Amino acid sequence: MIVEEFKRQAAETAVTAIQSGMVVGLGTGSTAVFAVRALGKLLQDGRLHTIVAIPTSEATAREAERVGIPLTTLDQHPLIDVGIDGADEITPTLDLIKGLGGALLREKIITLATKRFIVIADSSKKVPRLGIRAPLPVEVIPFARQPVHDYLVSLGARPVLRARQGQPFITDEGNIILDCHFDNGIPDPLWLAQAIKQRPGVVEHGLFLGLAQTAVIAGTTGIELLGQPL
Ligand code: A5P
Repeated sequence: MIVEEFKRQAAETAVTAIQSGMVVGLGTGSTAVFAVRALGKLLQDGRLHTIVAIPTSEATAREAERVGIPLTTLDQHPLIDVGIDGADEITPTLDLIKGLGGALLREKIITLATKRFIVIADSSKKVPRLGIRAPLPVEVIPFARQPVHDYLVSLGARPVLRARQGQPFITDEGNIILDCHFDNGIPDPLWLAQAIKQRPGVVEHGLFLGLAQTAVIAGTTGIELLGQPL
């Protein structure tokens, strides 16, 4: 329960970076949903206005509509002022693993279109290096499942097909996810990111390297800010 409170605190702190008139990227997951609700409340209260937002998943789109956030698209707004999203791992230099919520492809597209990306989390997501707490999700077209699986093994990973209720998990884009486990973390994330991405059949991976400007992390000792100030 207390973890949920930390997620909410991080989210509510991060939304203070949003100003009226901005285009906002809305993340996916149990932390990002607090930011969506907090933004909805600020709009309802009239403390913010003329915001439009781009959601990173169908689930987030539904929640944003429920709380009254006007949505737009990258076609209409190709440049996003501020994006707020969760992560599965955060290093001290703000490298991330994302995608346990299954939305990593749209999340990365939106992050790359964002001027300022703020990652929010409870303190359990902090890691000294990537790959020690969470698996690395790799989104793959279904046709390429076995060859990409074998390729990921050759890179030192133990890929596991993500499943829901006994069936392969299918992303918003109609792909599958191979969750890659590493026995001692990922020794060279930049090299791995390039190696995974070059393989035909791979759509995207959950390594977000050098993309976050600020992290807002809430824990028992309060709110910690990493990177640029809010
Ligand atoms: C969604 O695809 C993910 O990238 C999430 O942002 C990440 O998994 C964090 O999710 P939680 O906030 O639910 O832990």
